[in-house]
Amino acid sequence: MNRRAFLTLAALSGLAGTAGLLSGCSSGSSGGPDRHPAPPLDLSVPLRIPPLLHPAPDADGVRRYELTMLAGSSELLPGKPTATWGFNGPYLGPTLRASRGDRVAVTVRNTLPEASTVHWHGMRLPAAMDGGPHQMVAPGETWSPTWTVDQPAATTWYHPHPHGATARHVYRGLAGLFLLDDDHDAALPSAYGVDDVPLILQDKEFTADGALDGDPLKGTFGILGDRILVNGTYNPRFDVTTERVRLRVLNGSNARLYRLSFADRRRFHVVATDGGLLAAPVETDSLPLSPGERAEIVVAFAPGDDAVLRTLDDGTDIARGDFDLIRFAAAARPAPSPALPAVLGAFEPITPPRGAKVRRFTLNGHDAINGEPVDMSRIDEVVPAGAVEIWEVRNNVYSHNFHIHEVAFQLLDGSGRPAAGYAGGRKDTVFVPGKSTVRLAVRFGTTTDPSAPYMYHCHLLRHEDSGMMGQFVLVEPGTEDTVPRTLPAPAGHRH
Ligand code: C2O
Ligand code: CU
Ligand code: CU
Repeated sequence: MNRRAFLTLAALSGLAGTAGLLSGCSSGSSGGPDRHPAPPLDLSVPLRIPPLLHPAPDADGVRRYELTMLAGSSELLPGKPTATWGFNGPYLGPTLRASRGDRVAVTVRNTLPEASTVHWHGMRLPAAMDGGPHQMVAPGETWSPTWTVDQPAATTWYHPHPHGATARHVYRGLAGLFLLDDDHDAALPSAYGVDDVPLILQDKEFTADGALDGDPLKGTFGILGDRILVNGTYNPRFDVTTERVRLRVLNGSNARLYRLSFADRRRFHVVATDGGLLAAPVETDSLPLSPGERAEIVVAFAPGDDAVLRTLDDGTDIARGDFDLIRFAAAARPAPSPALPAVLGAFEPITPPRGAKVRRFTLNGHDAINGEPVDMSRIDEVVPAGAVEIWEVRNNVYSHNFHIHEVAFQLLDGSGRPAAGYAGGRKDTVFVPGKSTVRLAVRFGTTTDPSAPYMYHCHLLRHEDSGMMGQFVLVEPGTEDTVPRTLPAPAGHRH
């Protein structure tokens, strides 16, 4: 049923006017025959806030975190236990927090029945610490990466990256946020869970008895579910106690694109994208986020406000259905918030030098880049450390996106049109609409390791798992032609 037909029907049957009207009207959902259709929402369940892990530095000045991957049971739908996986708990993981300049050390313990990894998406770190498919953690084992945080304040995240199984591991619940602070962040709301609130958006399909349904590797896109969880909360409400709230939104879904807007079309300000703060807030009433992307927005609420954040079907193949996501219920007497700063920070644009190296990547189908499915033993690109290059991604088919490990990039243009507003922010993941080309100015890091690759891939996890991925190494400038282009298969990797 299309949206207009549904609206007409709803008006005829006297349903119009309720906030949850369109929830569950998902014309494009791909559930199995025993999929349990989603009823309208009243958005009344208190939003879960992932616990914060912000350990004080130990005697050596290192912040130490512990993450245990475990299998458990969650009540995602009321009264129905769901078998899920999580970090330190049955679903999702704690929010880690560190500051620029910190040395951090994480002990990752895998108590799952199968091997996995933990990748630090958005973190700039040495390849051996990256947690990609080359750093598998076998069942019962631990992995202990350590690095120094050296990048601007940002909302980054972590999730498994075992080749061929990422979609399933993330879908079961393995994901969490890793917030980075620096000295330039002071003027934005920053009380975690109070006026600085994470929103991890994930769509699911459920069976009638509450089990996670759907095959993350089926069809063109895998999962496009009709139940949307926010921080693992179904049907959520957040009680606003301040005049302004900063929302750190992560698209933690396998394939769904969210086109976020408020039901009352109120305007809000985008203050940060994947890689950190914009130069200045950008006002809008709508914001698209494809899988893996993050944005920070600041929303003003009047006393007693009742505002529903929604995602709208804009006709995109991975944005099927209109859904209410969460209700914001504002206090009658909210506490004052700092004014929105006119300037957010020292934003340094990434400008490719004259004659910058251009690399081209073509996306056809969903299991290869430049016609080659990923090969864990093949280095596709060798990049000199510290380079600024232009990566041009041409998509000849349906929706994809493109994520590059380790780097920060800026969208130069999409289908020839220069990036404007928040689209020109610092990023690590970008939507590549069907039949379009994006050009990225990419700034690479300076830590070389010719034997440990970083990945680049489509972040629609079904596509990543089926081979739409490649590998690059960062090397000492001048050694590009002498480093090996093949690697031994990663230890613990079986396919
Ligand atoms: Cu979000 Cu290769 O990862
Ligand atoms: Cu990543
Ligand atoms: Cu894709």
